[in-house]
Amino acid sequence: MSLESVRYRRGSLQVLNQLLLPQSSQYDSVSGVREGADAIRTMKVRGAPAIAIVGSLSLAVELTSNPPQQTAELLTFVRESMERLVGARPTAVNMKRAADELNAFLSREAEKPGVTVQELTDRVVQWAESLLEKDVRDNRLIGDLGAQHILQTTNAPAGVVILTHCNTGSLATAGYGTALETRPYNQGSRLTAYELVYEKIPATLITDSMAAVTMRERQVSAVVVGADRVVANGDTANKVGTYQLAVLAKHHGIPFYVAAPSTSCDLSLPTGGSIVIEERPSQELTDINGVRVAAPGIGVWNPAFDVTPHELITGIITEHGVFRPEELRDGLSQGK
Ligand code: MRU
Repeated sequence: MSLESVRYRRGSLQVLNQLLLPQSSQYDSVSGVREGADAIRTMKVRGAPAIAIVGSLSLAVELTSNPPQQTAELLTFVRESMERLVGARPTAVNMKRAADELNAFLSREAEKPGVTVQELTDRVVQWAESLLEKDVRDNRLIGDLGAQHILQTTNAPAGVVILTHCNTGSLATAGYGTALETRPYNQGSRLTAYELVYEKIPATLITDSMAAVTMRERQVSAVVVGADRVVANGDTANKVGTYQLAVLAKHHGIPFYVAAPSTSCDLSLPTGGSIVIEERPSQELTDINGVRVAAPGIGVWNPAFDVTPHELITGIITEHGVFRPEELRDGLSQGK
């Protein structure tokens, strides 16, 4: 059975508390939107698609346990809940896209003659549930299309070596040798390593400062990272450290891929300069498991993401195909 970060059945939502991994696999209940937003803000659950799915399902469970009695009440509750969830973390675009889509869907449905508040509530719940199914489908497609493309374009008879960063989970079932890079918050070593050990995929953990030497000495076939937001020209926000990997990959002549569902693409922004980059609490850098390891009094800058310019990106792997950055807009519109 594959790793489940989210367990959902109608009226009940649980998330794997990723703050406790790999020491313990504990599922925490999320009974509504406030708890959903807290789980996202504190990074119990993280990763751009998971943020949108948990956010939307937290709305679904609250609507199931406490259905509104009036249509106006439902519309206000959905709008305010989505605002709260979008505000929990700003850089990944998936939650914002989900909010815009749901608000538009609900306005259309509410205008249909004779529709009851119960019917509308059911439709919102079904809409949130459909995100879960779509994400599983898209992840499979991204994994398959990315693996085919990389196998066809690299000459690696002994098997490809992929270097990845942080945690995306989307290529974790490709089944080839993988080098993981970690970062100050240790998401590579805590989360991606956990997934790969679980899936029995051969992998080696390295630190961020070993990326250059690994590229020079370990025959890295490609770098594959995730994305929190890919904008119209292909510039991509992803976990901080992604940009430096792209610079290093260029220097070493290694292809650099971004694997992301179309729900992580934001064609309304022309370039990466307009992406809001979240800054996280300083304790994520200065403390490990609540124990201070950095010199007291030191200043800290802790942006969670950086932007990789499109000219460093070989291809963007989506559920609709693998596109060069300049092909993204057309590729996605044809895939719709
Ligand atoms: O801060 P996080 O852990 O939410 O950041 C995760 C990443 O940057 C991922 O690469 C991205 O969200 C894609 S997850 C499929």
